[in-house]
Amino acid sequence: MANAIAIINLDIEGPKISRHLYGHFAEHLGRCIYGGFWVGEGSTIPNEGGIRLDVVEALRALNIPNLRWPGGCFADEYHWKDGIGPRDERPRMVNTHWGNVEENNHFGTHEFMALCELLGAEPYISGNVGSGTVQEMSEWVEYLTRDGDSPMARLRRANGRDEPWRVKFWGIGNETWGCGGNMRAQYSADLARQYATYCRDHGDNKLYRIASGASDDDYKWTETLMQQINCFGCEATPRTFFQGISVHHYTMAGPWEAKGSATDFDTDDYYRTMLSAREIDRILTGHSTVMDIYDRGRQVGLVLDEWGTWWDVEPGTNPGFLFQQNSLRDALVAGTHFDIFHKHADRLYMANIAQTVNVLQAMVLTDGDALVLTPTYHVFEMNKGHQDATSLGVHLRAEGARRQVGDAELDTLSASASVKDGTVLISLSNLDAEESAEVTLDLRGGSVGEATARILTADRLQDHNTAQAPETVRPRAFDDLKVTDGRVALTLPPHSFVTVRAPLA
Ligand code: AHR
Repeated sequence: MANAIAIINLDIEGPKISRHLYGHFAEHLGRCIYGGFWVGEGSTIPNEGGIRLDVVEALRALNIPNLRWPGGCFADEYHWKDGIGPRDERPRMVNTHWGNVEENNHFGTHEFMALCELLGAEPYISGNVGSGTVQEMSEWVEYLTRDGDSPMARLRRANGRDEPWRVKFWGIGNETWGCGGNMRAQYSADLARQYATYCRDHGDNKLYRIASGASDDDYKWTETLMQQINCFGCEATPRTFFQGISVHHYTMAGPWEAKGSATDFDTDDYYRTMLSAREIDRILTGHSTVMDIYDRGRQVGLVLDEWGTWWDVEPGTNPGFLFQQNSLRDALVAGTHFDIFHKHADRLYMANIAQTVNVLQAMVLTDGDALVLTPTYHVFEMNKGHQDATSLGVHLRAEGARRQVGDAELDTLSASASVKDGTVLISLSNLDAEESAEVTLDLRGGSVGEATARILTADRLQDHNTAQAPETVRPRAFDDLKVTDGRVALTLPPHSFVTVRAPLA
């Protein structure tokens, strides 16, 4: 059994954990939008203006901070004017990236903004660089955010929306190194500057422009963007062309060609998955280091706007729909990511799990009128107290908390902590598949009142929730903890995620 002390200094505050690290992503892909968020006004499934209310209710309980839309790869094929006006008159298109299915554009700008309002989430629009134009993107910003009299404001009003919306987050292309245009870094950086120039701040709506960034550890891509970031001498545009730079990293158990099943995996697959998840620490460190060279004041945010597990699709489902189950393993991947995100809170401003409903590492799965909360959903819920909290460093001294995985070593304990509104929240994961871990939380520099804890675990790592058995993996109260003289002692069962809350005394 592993044995560890986690030292947490309550009086040494780290950077604020942006709530946007708990962000989401919804693409026109498979059943994410159609059948997931959107069922249409005529549906028997309870909805408001066509938006599925059980999904909204589930996500509101997570304090969902933002939602990225319409892609992904789809964003660089999307022409926003096709998605406004009377639905039955909207042009149709083929979604060539995802299943070659017909897209009827029934879910467009107004539907997305209504969804964000229902969720209480900030919109994050991903604009088309790959097959769009500067004018098209510029007009979309104007349509959404311009008050007063202008061609796009008039068009918006003609479509039933008088007031402009507020939109902060604006993506300039997606994966321009791949599906977003197969560009080279220098060309992409030049285009991003050009597009950013014409994405105007209308009135007091201030855009946070996010340039399409690197894949995984392509630090050269980030460096190329950072070298181009300053807009010296241009009064009309911000001093930096972009306020954020994106990066994408997906977790798999093996190479792309052998991602493996979401639920049919063995312990070796599991440990390889956790190694892949832990890679995000090295990747974020690498990009942050490059950014520090060009932006010592840390004004530009790093935006991990796609992350999560990517498995083979469920047997019998459309390979282009990326529908996968979600097991306890996925939950542990999520918990580990959040610990690492919190550690990088001084540079990492936003992260968006891919994707919210029915695609990849989803929060919720829908099956007709049934809705299933995934194990990953529960990690987001148990961790939501970290949103906009002040991070606290956790110094782990552990014995026996390691596994040899091929020629690498995996640390099997993971932790992070924060404080907000007088309450300390500590997240702990025991990633070992078989062994428990005794952990003592040594809280220094302050004292806490009575601690309470919750646990997410299951008999097997492969356990997951279905419409027939929706509560196989769900959080429960965890009473097995002792508090003495500022120390909290607890034993984490194998493959478990635990949160401890304690009020500052
Ligand atoms: O999330 C699925 C796809 O993964 C996105 O469309 C794309 O950006 C990435 O390659």
